[in-house]
Amino acid sequence: MTFARVLGTGGYLPEHCLTNSDLERLVDTKDAWVQERTGIRKRHIVGPGETTCDLAEHASRRALEAAGIEKDEIDFVVLGTTTPDLVYPATACRLQARLGISGCPAFDVQAVCTGFIYALSIADQFIRTGAAKCALVVGADASSKILDWTDRGTCVLFGDGAGAVILGASEAPGILSTHLHADGRYEHLLYVDGGVFHGYDHPAYVRMQGGEVFKIAVRTLGRIVDETLAANNMDRCDVDWLVPHQANIRIINATAKMLGIPMERVVLTIAEHGNTSAASVPLAMDVAIRDGRISRGDTLLLEAFGGGFTWGSALLKY
Ligand SMILES: CC(C)(COP(=O)(O)OP(=O)(O)OC[C@H]1O[C@@H](n2cnc3c(N)ncnc32)[C@H](O)[C@@H]1OP(=O)(O)O)[C@@H](O)C(=O)NCCC(=O)NCCS
Repeated sequence: MTFARVLGTGGYLPEHCLTNSDLERLVDTKDAWVQERTGIRKRHIVGPGETTCDLAEHASRRALEAAGIEKDEIDFVVLGTTTPDLVYPATACRLQARLGISGCPAFDVQAVCTGFIYALSIADQFIRTGAAKCALVVGADASSKILDWTDRGTCVLFGDGAGAVILGASEAPGILSTHLHADGRYEHLLYVDGGVFHGYDHPAYVRMQGGEVFKIAVRTLGRIVDETLAANNMDRCDVDWLVPHQANIRIINATAKMLGIPMERVVLTIAEHGNTSAASVPLAMDVAIRDGRISRGDTLLLEAFGGGFTWGSALLKY
């Protein structure tokens, strides 16, 4: 049996940083409120001219280096993003060109904050079936470009960044299962109010009913954690690390509690960069691998929830 195994990871945050105190000058908010209600201390924001592809390129180069492989070994590129550089070509194609790879499939996946989990699941299917041997899987977003910087209910929450994972075909277990879901009935709770057919004549901004999103996210993430463990005949205590989507510390606390996993076994990066959308799970994974917390052989449970609504999980042996 062939598995998709993580060979290396990389992450990147843009240089420019906005603290909660900086935001106090933009909207009616307080550092203490943001920290207490969300767990966020600061977020990184793209500089002038910097795009999602730039972030993805930095993260991908770091992942390639960590995996110790040559770019020419990559035969599949999939990138989760909701803030592509252009309507087309896909940011994955631009990234492919930047990295000097050509010929292999390269495409974007749009599942908002679940984009990386969707991309990982797709790459996993290609590797399991033998259709690909070495995949570059990226989550990258520059959400600062679609934020209404006068709306305190959204602008304090998001930040920009990218995370990347190289998956290689292996006989030894890697990704054990992935689980993807969506429910399009909740568009009114979380959406961007512009696009090709709607409001192309004005800037597009994230619109969110935060309280409602919060409640549904907590319920849904609890369910998907159970679904993932049941599919693998595993128990809660078999999970070494929960690597959650970094949207709100209170959502993460609630999920960890439902899973019965102590917070010491949960990777938390939200304080440093806020909700980086599709980048959040691979960024967190990269941090905990590089600082030595996650070791080879550990069992990781990755989960995310986002606009759509979309949600998903992956259980893997690192
Ligand atoms: C947005 C969120 C942080 C708001 O936190 P909350 O505890 O639910 O706060 P509420 O919406 O109940 O608002 C409480 C009060 O704080 C105020 N408030 C909201 N944003 C604020 C801010 N940035 N600074 C200060 N006060 C704020 C509200 O206006 C409200 O004031 P009121 O009681 O006078 O009306 C929270 O609901 C959340 O994180 N939701 C999920 C968002 C998310 O993760 N989205 C992405 C999914 S991938």
